[in-house]
Amino acid sequence: MCGIVAYIGRRQAKDILLEGLKRLEYRGYDSAGVAVMNGGLKVARAVGRVANVEKLIEERGDFTGTIGIAHTRWATHGGVTERNAHPHRDDARFGHGIAIIHNGIIENYASLKKYLEEKGHVFTSETDTEVLAHLIGELYQGDLEKAVQSALREVTGAYAIAVVCEKEPEVLVVARKGSPLMVGVGNGEYVVASDASAIVSHTTQAIALGDYTVARITREGFRTATVDNVEISAEIRELEFDLEQIELGHYEHFMLKEIFEQPRALRQTLQGRIDVAKGQIVLGGVGEHARRLANARRVVFVGQGTALHACMIGKYLFEDLAKIPSEHDFASEFRYRNPIVEDGTVVVAVSQSGETADTLAALQEAKQRGALALGVVNVVGSSIARETDAGVYLRVGPEIGVASTKAFTGQVLVNAMLATFIGRRRYLSQDFVTNLLRELERIPEKIERALEWSGRIRAATAKYVHRENWLFLGRGVNYPVALEGALKLKEISYIHAEGMPAAEMKHGPIALIDNGMPVVFVATRNSQYEKVLSNIEEVRSRGGHVIAVATEGDEHIRSLAQEVFYVPDCTEMLQPLVTVVPLQLLAYHAAVMRGKDVDKPRNLAKSVTVE
Ligand code: G6P
Repeated sequence: MCGIVAYIGRRQAKDILLEGLKRLEYRGYDSAGVAVMNGGLKVARAVGRVANVEKLIEERGDFTGTIGIAHTRWATHGGVTERNAHPHRDDARFGHGIAIIHNGIIENYASLKKYLEEKGHVFTSETDTEVLAHLIGELYQGDLEKAVQSALREVTGAYAIAVVCEKEPEVLVVARKGSPLMVGVGNGEYVVASDASAIVSHTTQAIALGDYTVARITREGFRTATVDNVEISAEIRELEFDLEQIELGHYEHFMLKEIFEQPRALRQTLQGRIDVAKGQIVLGGVGEHARRLANARRVVFVGQGTALHACMIGKYLFEDLAKIPSEHDFASEFRYRNPIVEDGTVVVAVSQSGETADTLAALQEAKQRGALALGVVNVVGSSIARETDAGVYLRVGPEIGVASTKAFTGQVLVNAMLATFIGRRRYLSQDFVTNLLRELERIPEKIERALEWSGRIRAATAKYVHRENWLFLGRGVNYPVALEGALKLKEISYIHAEGMPAAEMKHGPIALIDNGMPVVFVATRNSQYEKVLSNIEEVRSRGGHVIAVATEGDEHIRSLAQEVFYVPDCTEMLQPLVTVVPLQLLAYHAAVMRGKDVDKPRNLAKSVTVE
């Protein structure tokens, strides 16, 4: 959701800005813009892809300058128009030549706008961002940093911003609260961006700005202070990923690359954390809270989208392995339902990006009410990771495809490790844990086997890709997998798909089943296998076509299903880690066959930083 890039240095800003915007495309956006300072400001904005802005800049041919700001916008306030695209300017008649890009939402923009209108400001867009631009202009008295600080003191909401001003053409001011922002520190140059992917090709040294921090950057150096102008020191850290992780390599899409990366990614998740020989599980990030976790009375998992499905599986894992009453909720619902947080409540926030606004807010709410806050997060140093008391990183590497794949299996794997870690401190025997660790260790290899089915899954998908309605059914720990399969299909192929517990089908959705309707069952061998077979029969007798994900060696299911995708056998609680793989591939192949933009599906954002 909204991407920010800003540059100050000695190179041509437009090249770095456009490259950065392309790296941030995966976040999701619908318009883009660039402003470069060269005496005066040059601004180019366009609806649609970054390539459209690039074309404009080429046509104009005068975009030289070594300081600039650039933005991809995911519309919140106001439609997808060139006028609403960033950068936004202050009121031209007051003449400071300020331009700003912004990610987040200024919640009190309406009252600020009214105040500014009364002072004679005229707005040209419907955005909250333009209000902030005008406010900075209104408060400007010859010092951009001070004007930004003063304006931000008036603002409620979330922001990551970068601001330039014609009157101080050698200065870049950036700030954040709630939305992510990093300052890459190069040699006599700085690249500011929403995330590391737009920085790493220039430098691996970066500062992750904290909330309410304003940085004033020149080519000679930078200063960081709070919005109240209290100077603070900034820590420069080494970014922990290399360029290869964010390049496509020989793959056609990031999603496919990330699906196939799962075995390697999950080996990293496990590395150094499980010791099968000793039967031990070591989670450094939660070690000091082990006693409190073992004594927990209730665990609440919160997340959104795919992460919510990992939360649901977390609930099954915690109840089964750690024997702690557990529940899951949409972070957005948890936050506003006046949740009861008793003594001994642990809240686990699950998030790939670590920036999802709903999840962050739920976590803060739970903490305020006294819960121990854990994070199961991929992006190191992200807002959620910083807000938690403890946590376990996924370590699956950057995920670029909007449809989450390797982060999902990483989240499930971490939840399984956490449940085992706590379970061992409660009821689980050493033998049980040793066996489970052995199973965990084999998961990457089993996913490799599941991936071998890609070609056959493509062939099967081709037969059904024209169908507009699909059902995904599963039971127990594979019910969230059914939800995830349906979500993947709708996200990237725009096919209508619903997931639900297999038993629930007969309470309504069975009415949808007509001749040839594809119904996907997760039907692996486990405690509910026989029940799933009965549900399959119910679909068959109404003419539905069954696509089954089944356990290798299950010949019986071939006589019931039109298509069978086999996965290796594994212990029931870990099955989602392998059963989701064919469903990821099915969604991917369907989207490609339908000619959709797999990595950048319409209307979606990778990281949703607004509530
Ligand atoms: C967005 C993405 C989903 C993701 C969800 C939660 O909706 O499109 O793929 O599952 O946010 O994101 P998070 O970063 O918190 O896991």
